Amino acid sequence: MAIPLLQLALDNTSLAEALESTRVLASELDVIEAGTVLCVTAGNQAVKALRALYPDKIIVADIKVADAGALLAKVMIGECGADWMTVICSAPVPTFETALKEAKKYPRGDIQAELFGNWTFEEAAEWKKVGIKQAIYHRGRDAQAAGQTWGQVDIDKIAKLAEMGFEVSVTGGLEVEDLKLFKGIPVKAFIAGRNLRDAADPAAAARAFKDEIRKWWS
Ligand code: 5RP
Repeated sequence: MAIPLLQLALDNTSLAEALESTRVLASELDVIEAGTVLCVTAGNQAVKALRALYPDKIIVADIKVADAGALLAKVMIGECGADWMTVICSAPVPTFETALKEAKKYPRGDIQAELFGNWTFEEAAEWKKVGIKQAIYHRGRDAQAAGQTWGQVDIDKIAKLAEMGFEVSVTGGLEVEDLKLFKGIPVKAFIAGRNLRDAADPAAAARAFKDEIRKWWS
C-alpha cells in the first residue's frame, strides 16, 4: 500500500499569510492546496503564486465547482497552473465530465470529487463512469464545530470508496491522533490546514503528521 501524501490546506484570508505558512512548511509537503477561503479572498493570484513558487509540488485549486466545469478547469488548471481542481458532490455529472475532459488536456491535470454532506454511492458510481478517479472525504469545518467526530461510519464509507477504485483523500480538522483511525485503507492524501498552519512550530507539526503516516502505512 502506498504511503499517503501530506497536503497543506491554505484557508487563510490573506495571500501573504498563506505564502508565509507555505514557506515554512513546503519542504515537508507533497501537495499544496489553495483552499476555498483563500481562493475566495485572493482570487486567481493564489494558485498562480503557488505555481510560480513551487513548480515541482502538486498544487490544488479547492474551489468546489458546482457548474461551468470545463471553463473553470481551463482557468484554474490551464491558465493559473493548478494540477488538481475540486468539484462538489452536488454538481451534476456533466460538470464532472466536462471538467475532467478539460483537466486532462494538461500533463498533470485531474479533478477531485469533494464529498460533503449528502451524497450516495450510486452517485459515486456515476462519477466513476465518466472517469473521475479521485475523491476527497470531508468532515466540514462547520460540522466539526457542531460536534461531529470521526467514527466508524466515516471509515466504512472511505473504505468502500477505495474498494470502488477511488483514490481517496481525507480531510476536516485532522489531528495527528486521528490518522490511525484510517489504517488499512489506501488513503491518497491526508489534508490538514489549521493544525499545520496554526501550530506553534508548523514544520514540527508536519513532521509529526508524516511520522504518524509512516508508522501506520509502511
Ligand atoms: C474546508 C476545506 C479545508 O481546506 C480542509 O477541511 C482542511 O482544513 P482544516 O484541516 O483546517 O479543517 O476544504 O472546506
